[in-house]
Amino acid sequence: MKKFLLAISLFAAAAGAVFAQSITQEDCDRARELVSQMTLREKIDYIGGYDKFYIRGIERLGIPQIRMADGPQGVRNNTRSTLFACGVAAAASWNEALVREMGVALGQDSRARGVHILLGPGVNIYRSPLCGRNFEYMGEDPYLASRAAVNYIKGVQSQGVMATIKHFALNNQEYDRHHVSSDADERTMNEIYFPAFRAAVEEAKVASVMTSYNLVNGVHAAENPVLIRENLRDRWGFKGFVMSVSDWTSTYSALASVKGGLDLEMPQAWCMNSDELLPLIEAGLIDESEIDAKVQNILQTLIAFGFLDREQLDRSISEDNAYSRDVAYRLSCESAVLLRNEGALPLKPGRRNKVLLMGPNASVIPCGGGSGRVDPIYSISLAEGMKGLGRNWSVSVADGKPSVKELESASAVIVSVGFNSKTEKENSDRTFSLPEGQDELIEYAAAHNRKVIVVIYAGGAVDMSRWKDKVSAIVMGWYPGQEGGKAIANILAGKVNPSGKLPMSFESRLEDNPSWKWYYPREPKTKRGFSYRYVTYGEGIFSGYRGYEKAGIEPAYPFGYGLSYTEFEYSGSKCIKSGDGYDVVFTLSNVGGRDGAEVSQVYVGEKNPCVKRPLKELKGFAKTVLRKGASARVTIHLPASAFEYYDVKSHDWVLNPGYFNIYIGSSSADIRLVEEVLM
Ligand code: BGC
Repeated sequence: MKKFLLAISLFAAAAGAVFAQSITQEDCDRARELVSQMTLREKIDYIGGYDKFYIRGIERLGIPQIRMADGPQGVRNNTRSTLFACGVAAAASWNEALVREMGVALGQDSRARGVHILLGPGVNIYRSPLCGRNFEYMGEDPYLASRAAVNYIKGVQSQGVMATIKHFALNNQEYDRHHVSSDADERTMNEIYFPAFRAAVEEAKVASVMTSYNLVNGVHAAENPVLIRENLRDRWGFKGFVMSVSDWTSTYSALASVKGGLDLEMPQAWCMNSDELLPLIEAGLIDESEIDAKVQNILQTLIAFGFLDREQLDRSISEDNAYSRDVAYRLSCESAVLLRNEGALPLKPGRRNKVLLMGPNASVIPCGGGSGRVDPIYSISLAEGMKGLGRNWSVSVADGKPSVKELESASAVIVSVGFNSKTEKENSDRTFSLPEGQDELIEYAAAHNRKVIVVIYAGGAVDMSRWKDKVSAIVMGWYPGQEGGKAIANILAGKVNPSGKLPMSFESRLEDNPSWKWYYPREPKTKRGFSYRYVTYGEGIFSGYRGYEKAGIEPAYPFGYGLSYTEFEYSGSKCIKSGDGYDVVFTLSNVGGRDGAEVSQVYVGEKNPCVKRPLKELKGFAKTVLRKGASARVTIHLPASAFEYYDVKSHDWVLNPGYFNIYIGSSSADIRLVEEVLM
């Protein structure tokens, strides 16, 4: 029966791409007609949300009330639902098809609850491990984040649910987020911080964009014409609507919000309301047509998604959706990253092999906190997952600190550590070091047992310097979602071969991070009579691995890194001209003793650049599943755009003709083959 239900939902997922995603001329015309029938007051009321997560309905015009819900790793707000592995874990799977399925499943979970707009994905670039919301986002690399975002959005929208990409833009810290301006130069914004948003608009046709709390170059994001008008609408051709989730502080002025390009003020109209706008319209400072345009943007999107013509609630989908559970499990399996393995893993079953599980996260599945926290219908902790491995396994769980005797008598000790919704969350930053007492706990276990396996739950890098070399294995579990305990237990037991890779560099010391000396806000500066604190993005385009490679600093674990229980060899590479770029072709062979999957990465580096460029940048990747002993020919296409940089003189992406190195590897620091091409 279960298999049958799963087959049905898989079919529904495959058949899912039936909903229009592009806004057509017809949609625009129909919206314009509706706008023409609305009174000025109705229009003003329409551009402010109500009851926290709704756009109001207008019954006489057949416009239904529209429901929103967070995002990004499950449907939230007054409901329990599937808790998926968090955004950064999705990126760590490097599996585009699986992230697309995550989107489809999220879309189905939304439909099962009558949710029209999902407030995800979040794609702010991981600049430092300190940012409290890294777990929601998709890592440090703009190309990887773009691929994950595009697939997530296409999946969600294929189910007739609008996705919302957030937070536009440069919301790379949570510390003092309402008051700090992220000050970055044009090239840095375009090369590092914009690409995921741009791909979401141009390629995935994302329906809505949410602005960020922070200011960008001295202007509030929700009122920022450079972001909203110049880039989003004029350059990328965005036709959906821009919303701010203001929480009382991200919109500041009715006039600036209207002029800046904001369409919808959430959760209610603190600025864009009749009291504020009518006098401005009467005074001729705002033209009614400017209000019309906002209503038009909202309505044409709702029409394109069919919200005026059908019910959003789909009762045929169960709230505890079998397909979503299956996707959640597979995503947890594919996103965990094996960082270190000195022979301790996979664990060997047997009555004499007693495994002791300890640590604050042993019996819970933590999730990051704030608006990204989802209440699952159920969850499987690591303790439950280990016990579910079967009768051959002897697993005991220590409540609190085990005795030395318990540690000495165990054949292996798993220490489950990390953060949770109270220690890593929205609206504050977190520490680089693990929460209090956890380092000591690992050291204590390592002092009394030679096979210590550390499982970490966190949104990014943590300080491992005290114990990294003293333990036998380290598994990065991120926040793995409701099926996480089962997935990680199966990885520890070797039933699942780990295949996740890091979507960010893990630094040895916080000071090594390229943003370190720029991260915290400077003293207030004054611009146009307005005083604000600011963060200078002084590392520019050299963030993440681009920065480590430039400075010659070796991170603890590099971007793109992750171990497997098998081994892969790369051979026979060549680059063949294809379209406006090249196909990079090579042979990948599984030469180890197990079936497994490898994420192959292609980086591009310009040989004689005319401006400063990173040594290499990720421009393509493929995840290939191979049985032991098997080989496959892998092709990764590089379009001409993969060779370009952003030129501040022409304000556009340009190609500097010449030679480029093509690096093919298993991580950013483990390059197996190098080719050279002429562009
Ligand atoms: C968050 C958004 C979220 C919204 C609604 C805001 O505080 O920054 O990411 O979608 O709240 O919960």
